[in-house]
Amino acid sequence: MSPVHRVADDDPGEAAAEAVSGRAAALRTPWPGVRTSLPGPASAALLARKDAVLNGPLRDSTNIPVVLGRKTGHVLEDVDGNVFADHLSAWGAAPYGAQPPSVRAATLTAWDRYGMEIAQYLASEPVVALAERLVDLAPGGITRVAPSVTGTEAVEGAVKLARESTGRPVILGFLGQYHGESTYLTAASSTDLPGNTSNNTQYVAGLVLVPYPNRFRAPFHRGPGPYDDTLYLDYLETWVLRHQVEPDQVAGVLVEPVAGEAGILAPSAAWWEGLVGLAGRHGWRLILDEVQTGLGRCGEIFAGDLWGLEPDLLLLGKGIAGGGQPIAAVLGTEEVMAASNTHLGGTYAWEPAACAGALAGLDLLLSGGVLENARAMERTALGVLGPLVDEVEQVGDVRSVGAWACLEFVRDRETIEPAPAFQHAVHRAALRRGVLAISEPDKPLYRMQPPLTMEPELFAWSCTQVADAVREVAATPPAEVRA
Ligand SMILES: Cc1ncc(COP(=O)(O)O)c(C=O)c1O
Repeated sequence: MSPVHRVADDDPGEAAAEAVSGRAAALRTPWPGVRTSLPGPASAALLARKDAVLNGPLRDSTNIPVVLGRKTGHVLEDVDGNVFADHLSAWGAAPYGAQPPSVRAATLTAWDRYGMEIAQYLASEPVVALAERLVDLAPGGITRVAPSVTGTEAVEGAVKLARESTGRPVILGFLGQYHGESTYLTAASSTDLPGNTSNNTQYVAGLVLVPYPNRFRAPFHRGPGPYDDTLYLDYLETWVLRHQVEPDQVAGVLVEPVAGEAGILAPSAAWWEGLVGLAGRHGWRLILDEVQTGLGRCGEIFAGDLWGLEPDLLLLGKGIAGGGQPIAAVLGTEEVMAASNTHLGGTYAWEPAACAGALAGLDLLLSGGVLENARAMERTALGVLGPLVDEVEQVGDVRSVGAWACLEFVRDRETIEPAPAFQHAVHRAALRRGVLAISEPDKPLYRMQPPLTMEPELFAWSCTQVADAVREVAATPPAEVRA
């Protein structure tokens, strides 16, 4: 299997400019700038109120010392008037900026016309049109769609469908991948055990997790010599399938094509070839969790397109909302879904306005230039941030796929032990410079996840701010506390 090669030097086209034209002016005023200490007084007051009422994990105000006041174009303004370049994009759910006019118009028009309605019982035109559009877009073999509200539910639905269509119990997943917050999937999202699963891991049966390729922190490779991620498949075949689970007990293999929460990790073409081969040989459903990677994030419509993957089940969330209403989807083949009796979705799944907004979002994605813009961001991120690996001892690795970039900070090159104090200091320094990205306590990853339509100047400026924040912190590095 050969990866699909991208055009080498594709610049954002006119249509990308068109896609953001309604917001370009709004973007430039205001340009990012921080004028108070963080948090500013208005944010501090709201954070104190928040801390008094929200549950534990939502009370970490030191990490994000700002409260959103308004969102315009590709910037976030806090309640004190500080403006930040948006490197969150609602964790990928707002891929075209704050309020894409066409998504807004389509959503409101559909809501005026249909109101809230339960698609599972009473269909409407936007529901049918969205299902048709997704099937048209999807890789070969996909013919059916089931509605969902969240990515978590879409993954749960795929697990049910894989089991139903094979009559087998086990789902094979990958250590470090993330699939959602339900009781079952927190067990499968082994990225951050203490911070995420709250001891739920051992409560579910039918999951077998194996390592996923990670070139930087490779469990099966240390020291010199070529890195070869097919070793991970050797381990799966010769150990796991011999000693832990029989291959014909496995219903499906659940996998993110590029691991997002685990830090923008992409396996090799040879790994995919091996995995697809194993799945074919043993009758496993290939379940691609594209909730975060799908619809442009990785510079292709689906990240699986990077390797020409043809899944049995494909899950979408986040980007499908287009920044409008919550919506997600399970896509599958005729064999898996046509005769299924599995109920998916729920009261809010695919209410008509969400479907209409999603269709308008897909129009933006396909209007030309958006995917090229995402690919150009990869080149910019690697160009501006990549050299830090040679320049700054604490920058262990810099990775980027499409409109997604990740830095891993380390205490030293020898041990590559994570450097959380360094990372937190970089995050705070970047915030002071006007860049709001993703840095979570207990996770050694600093990630940038901008809207796909972010203007090249703003993205390049943001990368430069992050690079300067790294240099600033490296000049007087904070002490790392031993765990
Ligand atoms: C790969 C992947 N799958 C599933 C989910 C869960 O989606 P949601 O938060 O919409 O439930 C996420 C969320 O980050 C994700 O990244």
